[in-house]
Amino acid sequence: MTKVITYGTFDLFHEGHYRLLQRAKALGDYLIVGVTTEKYDMERGKLNVVDSLMTRIENVRKAGFADEIIIEEASGQKVGDIQKYHADIFAIGSDWVGQFDYISDYCKVVYIERTKNISSTMLREQNRQLQKIGIIGSGRIAERFIPESKLVSGISVQGIYNPNRESAERFAGKWEIDTYAGIEEFYEDVDSVYIASPHQTHYSYIKEALEHGKHVLCEKPMVLKKRQAEELFSYAKEHGLVLFEGLKTAYCPGFEKLMGMACSGMIGNVRYIDACFTKLEDENVRELTDKIYGGSFTELGSYCLLPIIKLFGTDYNELRFDTICNEDGLDIFTKTSLTFPKGIATATCGLGVKSEGRLLIAGTKGYIVAEAPWWKTTYFEIHYEDSSRVDKYSERFLGDGLRYEIRDFLNLISGNDKSDFKLTRGMSIAMVGIMEKFLESQNRGLV
Ligand code: CTP
Repeated sequence: MTKVITYGTFDLFHEGHYRLLQRAKALGDYLIVGVTTEKYDMERGKLNVVDSLMTRIENVRKAGFADEIIIEEASGQKVGDIQKYHADIFAIGSDWVGQFDYISDYCKVVYIERTKNISSTMLREQNRQLQKIGIIGSGRIAERFIPESKLVSGISVQGIYNPNRESAERFAGKWEIDTYAGIEEFYEDVDSVYIASPHQTHYSYIKEALEHGKHVLCEKPMVLKKRQAEELFSYAKEHGLVLFEGLKTAYCPGFEKLMGMACSGMIGNVRYIDACFTKLEDENVRELTDKIYGGSFTELGSYCLLPIIKLFGTDYNELRFDTICNEDGLDIFTKTSLTFPKGIATATCGLGVKSEGRLLIAGTKGYIVAEAPWWKTTYFEIHYEDSSRVDKYSERFLGDGLRYEIRDFLNLISGNDKSDFKLTRGMSIAMVGIMEKFLESQNRGLV
C-alpha cells in the first residue's frame, strides 16, 4: 500500500483544495491530510484564517479523499509524521516547489500542479469587503502602521490627513498614498480611520470620524477623560460602528498566552502585579516637550495598566501617583499604586529615569515573570516555591506587532468579534479614568 501525506490550512475550502486532495490521493492508496491549527497559522504569520479548525477538518473530510486526518500544530512536525505514519509520498502544491526538498531524505516528494486563479487569500479578500483605511497624523507610529497593515489581508491604506499639509504630503509621497486638502474629502474616501495624532486631538477626531459613519482604530491613550470615552463608545455602539483602542500589547499572542496562564490557576490566585516600562527619550521628542499632555504616564501608562486591569478588574479601591518631574513639571518617572479587593498593583513608567522593565505577577502558588520588552511578549517564566522548577514559555511576536491589532480591528468590523475580550470597552474606559485622575493630580491646566 502506498501512503501519501499532505498538509494545508484549507481555509474557505475551494476547488484548488479539492483538486489537490484528489491528485494527492491518486498518487497512492491511502491519503493522510494534516490540517494546521489556528495557533500554528498565527505563528507562521497567517493571521486571517476565517474557518475554525473543526470546520476546516470537516471540509477536508467531506471532500471524500482523506483516509485519515491529522493536526499540524508546529513547524518541524512533518518529518516526524512521515516516519510515524510510514508515508511513502509527501505531496504539496506547486506554490511550494523546492521548499520541501529536504523531505526527500525520508520519502518521495511530489509537487502537485496548483489550480490557477483561486486561493483562500483571494476568497478572504472577496468575502471581506476591502477596508479602505485613512490615517490621521503622520508621526512615527503612523510610519509603522503602513508596512504592518500590508501584512493583513482585507485592508488597504487609502490616504493620510494632517492639517500640516507639508508633513502630510511628505508622508503620502513616501508611502504612495493620497493626501487631502480638507478633512471632508478624506472622510469621503475611506471606510475607517486610524488615529495617530497627538493624544489631546483624539477625542475630536474620533467623534468626527464616528459622525461620518467610519470605524475607528485609535492609538492609546484613546482619550484623556472618562466621560469622553463613555460618550464615544456609546455613540459607536448605537451606530453600529467599531471603536477600538490600539494598545498593541493587548492583541499580541504572547501577552494573550501570559494572561491565560495567570488566570489558569497555575500560580494560584493573583495577589500582586508589578508592571514597569521605561524608555529613555531624547529631550526634544513630543513626549517631553508637550507640557500638558506629555510625560511618562500618558505615554507608557496604558501598557502597564493593561495587565493590572485585565487581572484585577476595573474597580480599584485606592489609587496613588508618585512622580519625579523635570523642570517643566512634566513627569519623567511615575509610580502608580493601586489596591483592589483581592490584590495590589504598581505600574511604573519612565521617560527620563531608567529602570528594569519587567512584568511580575505574583500568586498564592507561584509567580510569572516577563522581562522587557514584555509589552511585546515573546518569553516568560513561571516560578514556584520549589526553585528548581521553572516553566518556560515562548511565543512569536512579528515585526512591530501592529498587525495583530489591525487583524482584530478587521475581525470586529466583519462581525467575527472573537477578540473583543482582549481589551474590552470597560477596560479602555477604566484606563482613561486613571489617566484623567493622573492629569488632575498634576494640575496640568487641562482644557
Ligand atoms: N492549493 C492548490 N491550488 C490552489 C490553492 C491551494 O493546489 N489554487 C494547494 C496548496 O498548494 C496546498 C493545499 O492546497 O498544497 C492547501 O493549501 P492552503 O495553503 O490551505 O490554500 P491556499 O488557497 O493556498 O491558502 P492561502 O491563500 O491562505 O495561502
